[in-house]
Amino acid sequence: MSALDSLPVRIIISDPRLLESDIRLHGWVKSSRHSKAGFSFVMVNDGSCLESLQVIVPDTLANYDQIRTLHTGSAVEIDGRLVESTGKNQRVEVQAKSVALVGSVEQAATYPIAKKHHTLEYLRTVAHLRPRTNIFGAIARLRNTLAYSIHSYFHQRGFSWVNTPVISTSDCEGAGELFAVSTLNLAALPKTEDGVDFKKDFFGRPAWLTVSGQLQLEAYCLALSKVYAFGPTFRAENSNTNRHLAEFWMIEPEIAFANLKDNADLAEDFLKSVCASALSECPNEMNFFVDRVEKRAVDRLQLLVKKGFHRIDYTEAIDILQHSRQKFEFPVAWGLDLKTEHERYLTEKHFDNHPVILMNYPKAIKAFYMRQNQDKKTVAAMDVLVPGMGEIIGGGQREERAEELGQALKASQLDQELGWYLDLRRYGSVPHAGFGLGFERLLGYISGVSNVRDLIPFPRVPGQADF
Ligand code: 4AD
Ligand code: MG
Repeated sequence: MSALDSLPVRIIISDPRLLESDIRLHGWVKSSRHSKAGFSFVMVNDGSCLESLQVIVPDTLANYDQIRTLHTGSAVEIDGRLVESTGKNQRVEVQAKSVALVGSVEQAATYPIAKKHHTLEYLRTVAHLRPRTNIFGAIARLRNTLAYSIHSYFHQRGFSWVNTPVISTSDCEGAGELFAVSTLNLAALPKTEDGVDFKKDFFGRPAWLTVSGQLQLEAYCLALSKVYAFGPTFRAENSNTNRHLAEFWMIEPEIAFANLKDNADLAEDFLKSVCASALSECPNEMNFFVDRVEKRAVDRLQLLVKKGFHRIDYTEAIDILQHSRQKFEFPVAWGLDLKTEHERYLTEKHFDNHPVILMNYPKAIKAFYMRQNQDKKTVAAMDVLVPGMGEIIGGGQREERAEELGQALKASQLDQELGWYLDLRRYGSVPHAGFGLGFERLLGYISGVSNVRDLIPFPRVPGQADF
């Protein structure tokens, strides 16, 4: 017997082979009910699954008086026998032989997540306790399962996971939404004639938290052919919306000898595979989301897995929006970036709740690294839009031609800074492409939970970084 075998049974394993055997169970009390017939029903959950295990506690136990006053949230250790249940709400239950109170709930009346309905907004204010609720437990398990599926997807297809730096000295997206990383004393900054003397800073130059691992990933792509990054990403965007976080997780694959179509094919296959694993590996969580959050959550995923994504050019999308009867808050015209309302209209209304890949955007609204198309007005960029969230993927084919990239870098005044990036085009350059998928937005699409603040354990947004 290994050390692991002696750990308590996890509720998820209500393994039929354990029936009629003695088990030890650890968990937290969800609720309890006391019958006049001389026993109590205590529902215990250990977070391994949505379901709680029913424990039947006889009044013959020495500490029965203590059990009778167990509050929701109390931690318990139970020794007992796993038996088939005669009740209709559960397959199995535990007949307790002893119940030890491991951690009591002080002041049950003020327990912040006492058993009653709480709004998601309220639960954000108790983010340290919210994982104990059904919905946050379900989100945490979905997040964990999908992270694992994502790594497996790439591993099985020969991609290498590359750990790109969290601290970066380049602004990959050129949007200036950067968090500075510095050891300088803000109250007494060393000065030069034109500003702060960054030579005195830790790195001897300004540095930031990364907004994307893409540029460094390209270096590995042009050596290992198929790579991906999966890690935290930071943006100092002052956006108070349902889909923006200051710290979020991004999945970024990058493929060599590939063009925009290959990139769109990868994005579609990848999303289908990840959504299929949500259905097959988290069926109880998905049913819970259908009951509590979004009625269509399972139906639309089943459709997504079966049916090809729509693919249209940006120019066609503008045409669709201009000819729609919908009134939009923001203007629609060729050359303007799409807002969430436009993206949602396309995927939810025009394409009937199915994902759409928009391709070939105007050059002026996309980053410097996008490959310029022959028309010289558009670039080989692509975004994937889904119902509820709008954009969940952004990416495209990279400019692999040294001449063109050199000009784009100059135009963005990045030529000094990104000489190393241009080198990748000077030595054995090949067409390559990639994209970034926002993990919280993906989880929001799959679960139907509409605010990314509820899809990461401890959200960081403008004006808020508690816990
Ligand atoms: O479209 P974005 O900015 O693309 C890039 O960063 C590329 N360098 C990625 C690449 O090609 N390797 O971001 C990619 C995705 C978005 O589509 C969105 O899902 C998510 O990252 N994202 C955010 N998610 C939450 N909060 C934010 N503030 C986000 N900003 C982007
Ligand atoms: Mg984008």
